[in-house]
Amino acid sequence: MCSFELFQFMNLVIIGTGYVGLVTGTCFSETGNMVVCVDIDKAKVAKLSAGQITIYEPGLEKIFLRNLKEERLCFTSDLASVVNEAEVIFLALPTPPGADGAADLKYVLGVAEELGKLLKGYKVIVNKSTVPVGTADKVREAIAKNYKGEFDVVSNPEFLCEGVAVEDFMKPDRVVIGTTSERAKKLMSELYAPYVRQGNPIIFMDERSSELTKYAANSFLAMKISFMNEIAQLCEKMGADVDMVRRGIGSDDRIGKRFLFSGIGYGGSCFPKDVQALVRSADEVQYDFKILKAVEKVNAAQKLHLVEKIKAYYNGNISGKHFALWGLAFKPNTDDIREAPALSIITALIAEGATITAYDPEAMQHVKESLGDAICYAPSHYEALEGANALIIATEWSEFRTPDFQRIEKHFPSKLIFDGRNLFEVAKMQSMGYLYISIGRLNSCNLI
Ligand SMILES: NC(=O)c1ccc[n+]([C@@H]2O[C@H](COP(=O)([O-])OP(=O)(O)OC[C@H]3O[C@@H](n4cnc5c(N)ncnc54)[C@H](O)[C@@H]3O)[C@@H](O)[C@H]2O)c1
Repeated sequence: MCSFELFQFMNLVIIGTGYVGLVTGTCFSETGNMVVCVDIDKAKVAKLSAGQITIYEPGLEKIFLRNLKEERLCFTSDLASVVNEAEVIFLALPTPPGADGAADLKYVLGVAEELGKLLKGYKVIVNKSTVPVGTADKVREAIAKNYKGEFDVVSNPEFLCEGVAVEDFMKPDRVVIGTTSERAKKLMSELYAPYVRQGNPIIFMDERSSELTKYAANSFLAMKISFMNEIAQLCEKMGADVDMVRRGIGSDDRIGKRFLFSGIGYGGSCFPKDVQALVRSADEVQYDFKILKAVEKVNAAQKLHLVEKIKAYYNGNISGKHFALWGLAFKPNTDDIREAPALSIITALIAEGATITAYDPEAMQHVKESLGDAICYAPSHYEALEGANALIIATEWSEFRTPDFQRIEKHFPSKLIFDGRNLFEVAKMQSMGYLYISIGRLNSCNLI
């Protein structure tokens, strides 16, 4: 006999409308919930309310516009006017590294204190920000300073990846929920039911384990990347090919195929800050997290590995050289440039007297806002090549993968490529007459 449970839509408030908050709010509205997204950035709220999406994320705009039109999704800066309409309140606030590398909780705890002044009845407050173990207790205390009524604080870390965030949210591998409250557990199960219909699990646990799960996941993935970057270094020194080694180990289920690509290090708004925060959290309880400290060190060096190859090619002097740079975002399919390896490369090259013309399909505006005219920007990846001594590839956007090489040659007779993402086959590039320098591969002219 089949049984059907009929779930009612919920009224939700999402506080913080950045990459996580906007995806969360939009995807919750897509299954029929009534969602109000709150942000202190009034310009952002005005844009979103007018139907202008504020981040680039594949597939997001379409469902954002649909739910905005259906009035299931709206935006405000006035938390007080909406908070008591909600059954569940999500915190999707920044947790940037503080001066010592530990996650700075001022946004999360500031909003929690504000909530305490506003709440009028039972609510579930769900923390989606990535936060150190014990934060749920701190949020509870901050709310309880001013509010004596009933409420629950739940940890619900977000595992979405920028670039595939909508898909990750709509069909998550798993949903992790940290709570010991049966009432909150029931509400959270109902809310996530439409997203786990294919049998992907909702894993319930206590708040502390849930908070640590998020850091453990990101740190493990960062470790996988750094491990492969060290294997790539060995390949270069031993005459092996990292692509072969990757395929050889990735086909083992125990290892898995993903996050095994060597390159120019991990970046983004999560891995660097989360690895750093977990190291600091471990220090606080007098635990020396040796593997993660090594992961950080390897990544810092890897971000500049391509620059070292470039300098080695020019015998240490790149002053006056002009480079085309393909890719600025920390990974493809996003406009996010936080901790992007491309920025470390730019800084290092400019410091040595080189000049750069860059192209990125989505991230150029953000780089213009932070670097201004320190570099030039081209309207296409082909035009970026004009007058360049060499091409540097820093992000593996699909449009860079199968370029028109005849067109490239027209703009770029020097035929010298430093590829930090191993986009092309070494043998093919050599047969076309390129000097093609990539990461950890055979015959790719290992300079250092
Ligand atoms: N970006 C990701 O891929 C990702 C994935 C998983 C988890 N996370 C975690 O989620 C959290 C949010 O990350 P993000 O990338 O969405 O950050 P973000 O910087 O893109 O967005 C944060 C938003 O919060 C707003 N804000 C700040 N203070 C506020 C306040 N007092 N009231 C209302 N709004 C306020 C900001 O204006 C901004 O729009 C972080 O803890 C991050 O580590 C991020």
